[in-house]
Amino acid sequence: MSHLVAPSMLSADFASLRRDIEMVNQSRADWFHLDVMDGVFVPNISFGFPIIKTVNKYATKTLDVHLMIVQPERYFKEFWEAGADILSIHYEASIHLHRSICAIKELGMKAGVVLNPHTSVDLLKDIVKDVDLVLLMSVNPGYGGQQFIENTYRKISRLKEMILQKQASCLIEIDGGVTLENAPKLVAAGADVLVAGNTVFSSDNPQATIESLKG
Ligand code: DX5
Ligand code: ZN
Repeated sequence: MSHLVAPSMLSADFASLRRDIEMVNQSRADWFHLDVMDGVFVPNISFGFPIIKTVNKYATKTLDVHLMIVQPERYFKEFWEAGADILSIHYEASIHLHRSICAIKELGMKAGVVLNPHTSVDLLKDIVKDVDLVLLMSVNPGYGGQQFIENTYRKISRLKEMILQKQASCLIEIDGGVTLENAPKLVAAGADVLVAGNTVFSSDNPQATIESLKG
């Protein structure tokens, strides 16, 4: 499978959201990446259901929702109703991770687990077969436009090894500081999905940049 690209709408122009949604629709992007922040789990507040519903109304591609919130299990049903196709929750925010992954799947969504940069992929060995996606944060979550953390390459290799050894089938998604320069290296290391916010939306030609990220 060739890798997927998921533009992060956090970096979109919210005054022209419909235009930016249509741009992603027209592009070679595969998913819409939507970052929900609560000001508690991360030191920033982004957006919630009204924006996700608006994206869902006009998007013709998969909605990949990344929850950076405490006690995410309180809102699974609402995210499903808002249009999420994939719902990813942080390992660090989930006391009963297995229960939460099952609950997300029971609602009919794909379930992902997200690791902060300091969280070891080794902690996933008893859950990796149950998830559809592992999202590795390659910056500390909270903001777009941050510097990529190089240790991510090691985490991708280690996770890839574990997936093969356990005969699991989850995708590896990388989020934070993805650029045209590191994208091919991330794919070579084993990444299946690349999230890109700043690289796409601050470029002069976002559609051409998505094309380049697809390789
Ligand atoms: C950060 C978010 C990312 C962010 C990525 O907390 O999870 O999805 O939008 O933005 P860039 O690609 O600009 O680092
Ligand atoms: Zn994200």
